[in-house]
Amino acid sequence: MKIIKTKHQAKDQLLKYKNVGKSIGLVPTMGALHEGHLNLVEKSKYHSDVTVVSIFVNPTQFNNLADLEKYPRTVEEDLKLLESKGVDYVFLPDVEEMYPQEAKLKMDFGDLETILEGALRPGHFNGVGIVVSKLFHIINPDYAYFGQKDLQQVAIIRQMVNDLSFGVELVVVPTVREADGLAMSSRNRRLNPADRKNALVLYESMVFAKNELLAGRTWFELKDKIQHKFNQLDGVKLEYFELVETDTLNIVVEQHITDFDQGKKYSLCTAAFVGDVRLIDNLPI
Ligand code: PAJ
Repeated sequence: MKIIKTKHQAKDQLLKYKNVGKSIGLVPTMGALHEGHLNLVEKSKYHSDVTVVSIFVNPTQFNNLADLEKYPRTVEEDLKLLESKGVDYVFLPDVEEMYPQEAKLKMDFGDLETILEGALRPGHFNGVGIVVSKLFHIINPDYAYFGQKDLQQVAIIRQMVNDLSFGVELVVVPTVREADGLAMSSRNRRLNPADRKNALVLYESMVFAKNELLAGRTWFELKDKIQHKFNQLDGVKLEYFELVETDTLNIVVEQHITDFDQGKKYSLCTAAFVGDVRLIDNLPI
C-alpha cells in the first residue's frame, strides 16, 4: 500500500493506470475508520482495478469549530486497517495541500440546502461539495463510493456530478450497523457508556415508525410519539425526525401509508444530540 501526500504524487502514481485502461475507485473518508468505511473499501476492491482511499478531516465542512477539534483522528490504526484490506493507495494530504488558498467559490444546492442537514448545518454541504470536487480532480476516479448513511450527502454529490459533468460513477453502499442497530459512525467513539445506550433511540424510533406506518398509522399521529420517546432520555435532544421521498428528499408533511404513490421510495431521516455528540441516521421504508 502506497501513501500519497500531494496532488503532484497523485498524478504521478495514478495516471499510468488510466493510460492502460484500468479503473480507479475512490473511497473518500475523514478517517477514524470503522466497518462502515471498510464496507465501501470492499465494494471498491471488488469492482475497481485500483482502490484509493482518501483520509482528510475537511475543515470547511465543519460549521462548528469544537466539532472539528474533537473529531477523532486515528491515522496509524486507519492505515493498518486499510493495509489489511489490500488497499492500493491512501491519499493523505494536509490542510495546506488541499487549501493552498481559502476556497471562495460557493456551491448552492438549491432546495437541498433548506432541509434536514442543510438547514441545521449552514455551509456544511458547500464544504463537502468543494472538497469532493477537489478529490475528484486530484484522483480522477472512474467510481466513487459513498454510504447511504449520509443520504443527503449522496443527493448533493449526485447533483454536483450531474451539474458539473464529472466523469465519475457514484456507487451507494448500504449502512453498516452495530449488532444492536446503532449506525456505525466515527463519532460513536465519543459516546460515554450511558450515551451509547441512549444513542439507540435513533434506530429504534425509526424501526418503530416504519412498522407503524406499514401498519397504517398516519405520520401525524406518529410524530408526537417519537418526540416523546426522545424527550424521555436524559441528555438527548432530537433535531429532526422526518419522512422523505428517498430520491428527492422532499419532506412528506402528512400522509397515510396507503396514500403513498406506487413506485416512489420513502425513507425516515433523523438527527439528534446524544450528550454533545451529534448523530444522524436514516432507514428506507
Ligand atoms: P466520513 O464521515 O468519514 O464518511 C466516509 C464515507 O463513509 C461516507 O460516504 C459515509 O456515508 C460512509 N459511511 C459512514 N458511516 C457508514 C456506515 N455506518 N455504513 C456505511 N457507510 C458509512 O462523509 C464523509 O466522511 C465526508 O463528508 C467526505 C465525503 C469524506 C467529505 O469530506
